[in-house]
Amino acid sequence: MSDFETIINTRRSIREYQPNDVDDEDILKILKAGMQAPGSRLGAEPWEFVVIKDKETLSKLGEIKPRVTNAPVAIVLVANIERAFYKTVWQQDMGAAAENMLLEAVNLGLGGLWNGVAPDEERMAKIGEIIGITDIKETKPYCIITVGYPADGWENKFMDKFDEERIHYEKY
Ligand SMILES: Cc1cc2nc3c(=O)[nH]c(=O)nc-3n(C[C@H](O)[C@H](O)[C@H](O)COP(=O)(O)O)c2cc1C
Repeated sequence: MSDFETIINTRRSIREYQPNDVDDEDILKILKAGMQAPGSRLGAEPWEFVVIKDKETLSKLGEIKPRVTNAPVAIVLVANIERAFYKTVWQQDMGAAAENMLLEAVNLGLGGLWNGVAPDEERMAKIGEIIGITDIKETKPYCIITVGYPADGWENKFMDKFDEERIHYEKY
């Protein structure tokens, strides 16, 4: 298996972390991976990122998304609709960035979790309020990616999710 296949196949949702910090360099690599994702229009991607290490903020976010509380770092993915050319497909753009970030976390020996936020508007508004967003019409908290070194009992490992029945050739 190539390194790439290993990363794709072993990525798991890691929900608990060791207390160790994640290096800023690694956080930057994860952000760069997010920005390398395909977007609906080159140069008009909606993504922006809020990196949070402050324990108080993490625990406030954790009141809405519990797995955030004990993560050493959380990255809120925010869709800035003003930046977008195709304004209705921001969830696809953001999803592509999120998956790239999770894969880069695995590449760096870290574990990550996609903590869902959008499209639940109440949740988006509450997360927005904590991180300084007042209007979720134009600036939309999409999800929170937590990363850290996996706690005991959590690891990136292969789980076979392949299902031949879902593949159709030529016609559905
Ligand atoms: C849109 C989306 C939202 C998710 N939200 C959460 C969440 O809020 N909390 C959580 O623990 N996992 C969340 N997950 C992770 C899924 O539960 C996980 O990917 C799924 O169980 C498959 O496990 P795997 O990631 O280990 O392959 C989310 C994943 C996606 C794609």
